[in-house]
Amino acid sequence: SILEMEVEQINKGKYEHYMQKEIHEQPESLTTTMRGRLIRGGSCKAKSVLLGGLKDHLKTIRRSRRVVFIGCGTSYNAALAARPILEELSGVPVTMEIASDLVDRQGPIYREDTAVFVSQSGETADTLQALEYALENGALCVGITNTVGSIIARNTHCGVHINAGCEIGVASTKAYTSQIVVMAMVALAIGGDTISNQARREAIIDGLFDLPKKVREVLKLDQEMRDLAKLLIAEQSLLVFGRGYNYATALEGALKVKEVALMHSEGILAGEMKHGPLALVDENLPIVVIATRDGCFSKQQSVIQQLHARKGRLIVMCSRGDAASVCPGGSCRVIEVPQVEDCLQPVVNIVPLQLLAYHLTVLRGFNVDQPRNLAKSVTTQ
Ligand code: G6P
Repeated sequence: SILEMEVEQINKGKYEHYMQKEIHEQPESLTTTMRGRLIRGGSCKAKSVLLGGLKDHLKTIRRSRRVVFIGCGTSYNAALAARPILEELSGVPVTMEIASDLVDRQGPIYREDTAVFVSQSGETADTLQALEYALENGALCVGITNTVGSIIARNTHCGVHINAGCEIGVASTKAYTSQIVVMAMVALAIGGDTISNQARREAIIDGLFDLPKKVREVLKLDQEMRDLAKLLIAEQSLLVFGRGYNYATALEGALKVKEVALMHSEGILAGEMKHGPLALVDENLPIVVIATRDGCFSKQQSVIQQLHARKGRLIVMCSRGDAASVCPGGSCRVIEVPQVEDCLQPVVNIVPLQLLAYHLTVLRGFNVDQPRNLAKSVTTQ
């Protein structure tokens, strides 16, 4: 029953901490998120996506002038990860707003806009205020939340539940990966079937079906991430470089390290390297570079070369089998991950960084599930 499922989720079971449990249950939470929503296709049926809470609004969304993603913290990062695939499949411009900043600026929101509110709790005060503002301005408001019956779920015109299951650790992990998957499904639903994008759509749907298995594989890096955490335990700072689909991975990886391990960490858009961050590079500062295979791979290879030329202490995340091509001469540490369809790669790539943040925190002796000064749900401003 649902109640038994929920009680089961509230137990830590064999795990020491909720964050650890929630990281490791991602193959299951992703499966639940996709359940009943993906159609595998067959002899007479096309591969497709069915999102009941959105189907009556898809036409309006397709016709909107732009889609605006609005959220805070990890939820914002999840939307950022999904932005490129939504732009690609829908052709609609997609802009990003941190909820508090939209409200501070009273930024323009129009009737012709679709405003998508992303929130694990569905109760975050800043996101809620931005929702009220967007409603006043007449935008179509879509909610993507993990909490059935939450204020954001209730007050939006339509939406999709993440169905990741109850998340207890203050640092969001399984909700993040499920949010990305939901937004990839939203992109497929809005994009609709055209002959020109059929192959791409099918590859993404196949990739979604395969994702829990790939996440199970990447979770095997647990011990390796613990060893890496041991090396980094006394560091002051950690940079994470990413771009394209994995700019969000850089921001989210750094956010995890910052919030739970209480270590300064910054996610950096690799394309901006020469406009400031390069000044920080020396032989001491550890730098994670995300360089898995996608359209930005060769650009990331050149970023690695430039960081290497400045004696940067590099930890490179690459696709399995790519160690030699990302790290000539074996001069850096490598994290090899399974490759998936490019737009889904952020779901796989964040996992080793979640594990790293988790182990760093435990080794440094801090409270993983309730980091100092932070709350799971920020309902005040
Ligand atoms: C707090 C939590 C974060 C979360 C953010 C947004 O800061 O500690 O983990 O990402 O709020 O929360 P929401 O529930 O709106 O996704």
